[in-house]
Amino acid sequence: MPYAHIIGTGSSVPNRILTNEELESIVDTSDEWITRRTGIKERRISDKNANETTTDLATQSARSALKMAGIEPEAIDNIIVATVTADHLFPSAACMVQKELGANNAAAYDLSAGCSGFLYGLESANNSIINGKSEIVLVIGAERLSSVVNWKDRSTCVLLGDGAGALLLQRREDPGGILSTHIKSDGRFWDLLCSVEGNDYLPESLADTASKPFILTMEGNRLFKQAVGCMANIAEHALAQIGLERTDIQLVVPHQANLRIIQAVADKLKVPMEKVYTNLHKYGNTSSGSIPLALDEAFRTGHISRGDNILLVSFGAGLTWGATILRWT
Ligand code: ACO
Repeated sequence: MPYAHIIGTGSSVPNRILTNEELESIVDTSDEWITRRTGIKERRISDKNANETTTDLATQSARSALKMAGIEPEAIDNIIVATVTADHLFPSAACMVQKELGANNAAAYDLSAGCSGFLYGLESANNSIINGKSEIVLVIGAERLSSVVNWKDRSTCVLLGDGAGALLLQRREDPGGILSTHIKSDGRFWDLLCSVEGNDYLPESLADTASKPFILTMEGNRLFKQAVGCMANIAEHALAQIGLERTDIQLVVPHQANLRIIQAVADKLKVPMEKVYTNLHKYGNTSSGSIPLALDEAFRTGHISRGDNILLVSFGAGLTWGATILRWT
C-alpha cells in the first residue's frame, strides 16, 4: 500500500501584531484575563492592502512548502484549501491559489470543517494518494478570521487571529508520512459556534441584506467541555487503531484554541506538556490555519526529527474533530 509522505511544509502570517494591551482599548478586557483564561498574548491581523488576504497567506505558505520540497507547481495533482474565510463565496480559495502558483495541472477545491478543516483536508489527500488517484497533493489551512470577528464581543474577539500553513504530500511505497486519519462531526451542536449572515429568512427589503455583517457567536463554556472530551477520545482511538502507545508519540501538535483546553487534553492522554507544541501565545486561534502553522514552525525550529511519530488533534465549529498520526520521514 502506498503512503502519503510529507515532503514540504510552509506557513505565513500577517505582519501586524495585535497585542492584548491594544485590545484593552477596544473592549472591556485585560491582558491578565486573556493570558490566564487562554494563554494568548498576541495575534496577527491582516491588512487587506498588504497582500495578506486568505489567498495571499495560503499562496505564501504553499510557496514555502514547494521550495522546501524542490517541486514545481505543475507537478501538483490536487490543491485542497481548508478555510471558513475564503476571500469570496466563490470561486474557491483553492482555485485562486492555483492561479497564483501556476499549478495548472491540479484539481483545486475548498473544504469547510471549522477549526478541524486541515485534518479533514489531510484525510481527503491521504485517500486520494493511497487510492492511486494522486501523486502530489497540497493541503493548506488558511484563515482571515479578523474578517468575521465581532470586534464588540470581548468573549470572542480576543481569541482569534489570521494565518496559514501548508503541507505538501507525495505518494511513496515505503512506510511513513500519514499513518492514520480519523474525522468526526456532530451537527446537533452547530449553533455553539457559528457565523451567520443576514436573516435566516427572506429579508423585508434587499437593503437589509446588504447592510448585515457576518456575526460570529460562540458558547465558549460548552465548547470547552466538548473539545476536551472529543479531542482526547479521538486521539486515543487513532493510537489504538494502529497499535501505538502514547509513549510512542514524540510530539503532539494540537489545534491552538486555548492553552487550558490543550493542557486538559494532554492530561487526559497522560502526555507531558513538554511533548506538546504550542504557539497560540503568538497567533491566537487561527482555525484551520493553526495546526499547519504550528507544524511548520515546530519543524523549522528543530522540534521534529526524522522518524518521529506526531499526533495532530483538532476540534472546531460544526462540531467537527479529528486526529492524524504522522511519521516524519
Ligand atoms: N475579558 C474579560 N472578561 C471576559 C472576557 C474578556 N475577553 N470574555 C469573557 N469575560 C467574562 C465573562 O463575561 C464572564 O463574566 P461573568 O462571570 O461576570 O459572567 C467571565 O469572564 C467568565 O466567562 P467564561 O465564558 O465562563 O470564561 P471561560 O473561563 O469559559 O473562558 C473562553 C472563556 C476562553 C472562551 C473559554 O470558554 C474557551 O476557550 N472555550 C472554548 C473555545 C473554543 O475552543 N472555541 C473554539 C473551538 S472552535 C475554534 O477554534 C474556532
